[in-house]
Amino acid sequence: KKTFTAEFRVQQFDRSPDGFKRSLLSINNEFPAPIINVCKGDTINITVVNMLHVPISIHWHGIFQIGTLTSDGVPGVTQCAIPSNQKYHYKFQTGIQTGTYWYHSHASVQYIDGLKSALIIHDPKDPWKSHYDEEEIFMLSDWYHKQALTLQKYYLSKSSDGNEPVPDTGLINGIGQYNCAVKKCQYYNAPIKIGTTKRFRIINTSAFAVFLFTIEGHTMKVIEADGTNLNGKTTVNGIRINAGQRYSVLVKGKTKTNQNYWIRAIIDPDTMDHASFKPNVSAILSYNGKYGLPSEVQFNKNDGIILDSFHEGNNFLDQNSLQPMELNVPKKSNKTVKVEIEFYDNKNGVNLAHFNNISFVHVMGTTLLSIVQTNQPYPKSNNVISINYGDIIDIIINNHDDGEHPIHLHGHKFWIIANGNTHDGDFNEKKVVFNTRNPLKRDTVSLNPHSYAVLRFVADNPGIWIFHCHIDWHLQAGLALIFVESAQRVQKLYGTTKSLNKCTSNN
Ligand code: C2O
Repeated sequence: KKTFTAEFRVQQFDRSPDGFKRSLLSINNEFPAPIINVCKGDTINITVVNMLHVPISIHWHGIFQIGTLTSDGVPGVTQCAIPSNQKYHYKFQTGIQTGTYWYHSHASVQYIDGLKSALIIHDPKDPWKSHYDEEEIFMLSDWYHKQALTLQKYYLSKSSDGNEPVPDTGLINGIGQYNCAVKKCQYYNAPIKIGTTKRFRIINTSAFAVFLFTIEGHTMKVIEADGTNLNGKTTVNGIRINAGQRYSVLVKGKTKTNQNYWIRAIIDPDTMDHASFKPNVSAILSYNGKYGLPSEVQFNKNDGIILDSFHEGNNFLDQNSLQPMELNVPKKSNKTVKVEIEFYDNKNGVNLAHFNNISFVHVMGTTLLSIVQTNQPYPKSNNVISINYGDIIDIIINNHDDGEHPIHLHGHKFWIIANGNTHDGDFNEKKVVFNTRNPLKRDTVSLNPHSYAVLRFVADNPGIWIFHCHIDWHLQAGLALIFVESAQRVQKLYGTTKSLNKCTSNN
């Protein structure tokens, strides 16, 4: 077991990832920021140095942070945001976790400006290891030409009418295509050798966009979702991936070909309130470095099997649904938490989002951890739900909104034991059969417009965990709540003294 030690200097610089020059956020003068590759059981020890003029933080998406709550990276919850010109040490074990993860700022809207990258935990005993020759990461991202803070102000103001900022383009591993008619465009090149199989790790690091990911002329066998190994029974032509989610797929290289193929990340225009929006986000699957640009074949949505969020819940009769290798879901729960997703007009013409009628606002000047440590009452706007150690929780989410919501829980993975559409009302407990046989376990579930999901998890990780929509605009609009998982154990683990004191700033 090793320790991955690094210093991450967060800075601003100018780049043109899609041909359009703008100021963006980099780590150690790299864009995309450095990828972290570690092995199962390794420790990660990263000092983040804030060279910006605004406070920052880094969250390690999907990592449980067992006993290391202060490394979860949520300002106002688990730490004070790192002030300008200061450092913060993140140190945590990867434990038994393996697979595809990522990291990103959890402060303000900084990850939209580029403060994010991949975190891969390799497993020397990966059950799929003998099935592929090489591997590669595809970090997908929507991309805006304006600064995220400017867009956030717009989104939270009257003039947006509640419509999220529409991205200008998208990036695959930091490369996008803008206005190719005017300037020659660059494409990310993914090499593959004739006759070999490659593992592609697909990560949607977007603020907003849902991508339909395809590789022309090739199918994808899905073997991992959010760090959960799958049985590989699902082979698809396209994957619909929402913000925060990850998949690994196996792609079999052709044994004979004389051309390259387009890899596409298509942003669903229906999700954008902007029907004419159709950026071409592409990379090249390149055979032995030969053959140049692929020919122009457009993927047709109706061709073949598209993996989407309805392949992960109670559709166990559907043979295309994703099935984990390990089947270990508890058959019963002992606590139910209901979460209603709605947006409302706050009367000033500003649309705010809420879970159960409360729009989340970060505490200022302190953290929830410090509030727990000193036994103070929780701020109402933090929408705190207390749960006991050892509880088996069912979260029933009803999405009353006409938009999609990728919902993410920190500190855990959950089984999606049911999901479905609710156009004619709410989730109905009497009618829904829970899948306690082979449900998928992941950390980010996508809720379709007007749909429900039931998420089961075991409260075995004392902490203060945020549960939020991973559309970053929606998080800013308050679509979050907090699970305080065993306050007593948190006090025992992290002390009852005022160790964290006051924050000089939290965003
Ligand atoms: Cu990637 Cu709080 O999330």
